[in-house]
Amino acid sequence: MSNGDILALDAAVADRLFPFHVVLASDLRVLRVAPVIKRLLPALVPGQYLEHVFEAIRPLTPLTPETIGQLTNTLLILKSRQPPALVVKGQIAPLAADGRMLLLVSPRIADADEMLRLGLTAADFALHDPASEMLVVLQAMRASLMDAELLAKRLRQTRDEALQASKAKSQFLANMSHELRTPLNAIIGFTEMMAAQMHGPLPAKYIDYLGDVKLSGQHLLDLINDLLDLARIEADRFELRPSQFAVGALVEECVRTVTPQTRKKGLTVEIASFDPSLTIDADERAVRQIVLNLLSNAVKFSRQAGRIDIGIVRDPTSHVRISVADNGEGIDPATMRSIFEPFRRGDHRVSDAGGGTGLGLHIAKRLAGLHGGTISIKSRPGEGTTVALLLPAVRVVAVSAPGRQKAP
Ligand SMILES: Nc1ncnc2c1ncn2[C@@H]1O[C@H](COP(=O)(O)OP(=O)(O)OP(=O)(O)O)[C@@H](O)[C@H]1O
Ligand SMILES: [Mg+2]
Repeated sequence: MSNGDILALDAAVADRLFPFHVVLASDLRVLRVAPVIKRLLPALVPGQYLEHVFEAIRPLTPLTPETIGQLTNTLLILKSRQPPALVVKGQIAPLAADGRMLLLVSPRIADADEMLRLGLTAADFALHDPASEMLVVLQAMRASLMDAELLAKRLRQTRDEALQASKAKSQFLANMSHELRTPLNAIIGFTEMMAAQMHGPLPAKYIDYLGDVKLSGQHLLDLINDLLDLARIEADRFELRPSQFAVGALVEECVRTVTPQTRKKGLTVEIASFDPSLTIDADERAVRQIVLNLLSNAVKFSRQAGRIDIGIVRDPTSHVRISVADNGEGIDPATMRSIFEPFRRGDHRVSDAGGGTGLGLHIAKRLAGLHGGTISIKSRPGEGTTVALLLPAVRVVAVSAPGRQKAP
């Protein structure tokens, strides 16, 4: 179709094919404006002169009948002189022998927001206009950007709420554990006093009962202490109190602590030869708790007359390793997968391995982590388990010369 044919077209068809066209007289008076342009720029009405409505910003030249001859068939960028601001790009082409011209333009659109601002939709563009395809892409992009933004906002909200809730929970646990510990210590203290028969003899049965009260109280206290530690760790309020201490002595002390239980089960406990001068800089209470957690697991999940082997090794290059190996029931793969998760326990109905909360290993791992260390675990179901605390070499402050190693 030649430009001239546009005049012959039915107006509706012309508008559909060329939604952004303006017909100009030879003196650049506006004769006809396609409806979309009319909507975008209400000031552009028939009778107006092109130069009153637009200025050419490329090429920078006045839009006059004298200059227009050089401007036909070159790319023009026009900017409306009055608000609303509208920048269009297009061409002027001669149309008819009487000097009429056709200005074919389309709005210059940088992004989908601009589209929205201009109130344009895909329907405003001619089917052949590449801008219509671009518009579809832009609108799709904008929609997915908005979706992504909304999603990110929701995620941020959820994360903030979760953090808030988790902080509140940790705070509650910390306070509650603290409040529970005080009266519980009193209960245990008074029970011990009564069992000692400080104010006169008690029937043997009552002494028995007091033993049970104390045991239950102690169990509850251990649980509360675990919860308190966990709450502090979760709330990032667990402060390490580092000091220098000999690893071997600490492990021996832990072994003594569990002696009543190991005796009861007839277990053999052995600490392999170690360097007694191996001293580390760490939170002694935390390391004691880790070792006790590993030991109490080994005892709990051992069979009668089983054995527990403890190793204290300083790897010359990397770490200090305190390992506790038992030949007990072992850990099935399903339990192993989530063994460090809090409150996670294996199925011990068969072996009846005694109670537990499922916090021991989780706390041990977190405490090790606070020292820059970790807990490693290896197990063969039915054969036994080796759990080890690994502390980084930087924690070592003293170690005797090689050859001075001796058994405890
Ligand atoms: N030495 C081990 N032998 C066999 N199973 C073990 C051993 N150590 C840990 N487990 C398994 O890992 C689970 C989690 O151990 P963890 O110490 O965290 O909890 P728990 O001993 O059950 O309870 P808690 O330590 O809080 O009293 C145990 O319930 C058990 O199934
Ligand atoms: Mg345990």
